[in-house]
Amino acid sequence: MSAKVLLTGSSGFIALHVLDQLLAAGYEVVGTVRSDEKAEPIRKELAKEHPNGKYQFEIVADIAAPNAFDAVFQKHTDLKYVLHTASPFSFGLTKSNEENYLIPATHGTKSVLESIQKYGKNVEHVVVTSSFAAIVNRDRSGDASFINDEKTWNPITWEEAHNDAALSYTASKKLAEKLAWDFIKENNSTFKLTTVNPPYVFGPQKYSFGLARASLNTSADFVNKALKTTTDYKGPFAQPAGVSCDVRDVAKLHVLPLGKEEYHGQRLFPINGTGYGYEEYEDGKFNFERILRTLQETHPELKGKISPGGIKDNEAELAKLTYYKNKITTDLTKLKFYTFSDTIHDAAKQILDFEASQK
Ligand SMILES: *[C@@H]1O[C@H](CO)[C@@H](O)[C@H](O)[C@H]1NC(C)=O
Ligand SMILES: *[C@@H]1O[C@H](CO)[C@@H](O)[C@H](O)[C@H]1NC(C)=O
Ligand SMILES: *[C@@H]1O[C@H](CO)[C@@H](O)[C@H](O)[C@H]1NC(C)=O
Ligand SMILES: *[C@@H]1O[C@H](CO)[C@@H](O)[C@H](O)[C@H]1NC(C)=O
Repeated sequence: MSAKVLLTGSSGFIALHVLDQLLAAGYEVVGTVRSDEKAEPIRKELAKEHPNGKYQFEIVADIAAPNAFDAVFQKHTDLKYVLHTASPFSFGLTKSNEENYLIPATHGTKSVLESIQKYGKNVEHVVVTSSFAAIVNRDRSGDASFINDEKTWNPITWEEAHNDAALSYTASKKLAEKLAWDFIKENNSTFKLTTVNPPYVFGPQKYSFGLARASLNTSADFVNKALKTTTDYKGPFAQPAGVSCDVRDVAKLHVLPLGKEEYHGQRLFPINGTGYGYEEYEDGKFNFERILRTLQETHPELKGKISPGGIKDNEAELAKLTYYKNKITTDLTKLKFYTFSDTIHDAAKQILDFEASQK
């Protein structure tokens, strides 16, 4: 396979795994990054891991700017696939939620689609990284008769969300995805669309230089926080909580659809678990307690060092979380998803090995 693929936001946590999988599958990759500084450590790793890989980087300093991607598509007229993983959000305490979340998320997606429409004459398929936040209906949380899946939509509107930072984040994700579906429909776009809608993404960084920046309040950092607890940690144990998936599965769902018609128009939801929220245990559900307990199973040497946890019946606690299923995704992909235990093991091992190497 030598088709040429554009990967936006290629220095991101998910994108670095996507980049690796694309090169391993023989695709030629054009990656966009915000600055050459971002590309430099990636080039070093790729030279080692993919010495014959075909890749190059293009700088797109601000993807939310109008026409941000025009030059890239004008230069690379032979792009066949586009994977849009870049999702900027700029935190500024003095800025409004609109400036922090909605504008960057929606403008970035619109900008890439407009450039494709203008110059990407050979683009056949676009995969956009969306989020479980675009799927989950919080109005129905705790309602076991409502199962979130590939067909459900977060009903939130910007008017309902804009006064609250957390809601603004989820609304911006939903609205950015909605914009993409509306765009191709109303413009009769010739290229097809697939979205990937991951919940909390856990798992190892593709390259250990990523560990340095896993200090944001991201899922990757939850494992780090659990490793830093002490036995007298007082909680909270029930938070953070949600549904989770493995970054390597998320990356696979970006690469698998390329060139395959059955993925056109699909939303893919990576998560391990076939439970429907009733009796069956759903492997994708987590809270801080479960991370702590899992760490002590996967790394027995941590027992007596980190917090043992504090919730007696954690299965009951977990059972209350979001109900979901992802039969469409599992039927299409036939993937066997990583288990929570393997995901946590691999993420923790990378952190512990890295820390040992720094001593
Ligand atoms: C259709 O394309 C135009 C120009 O590229 C864009 O400005 C517009 O927002 C698109 N329509 C929708 C509904 O997204
Ligand atoms: C898309 O196709 C429909 C039906 O053929 C047509 O009415 C509409 O004008 C087209 N839209 C654009 C933006 O070309
Ligand atoms: C970080 O995550 C914790 C746990 O979910 C949350 O309580 C806190 O508000 C978050 N902080 C920021 C700055 O988002
Ligand atoms: C999910 O995880 C369980 C272990 O908790 C594993 O046995 C099962 O095969 C996984 N399911 C899928 C669909 O990958």
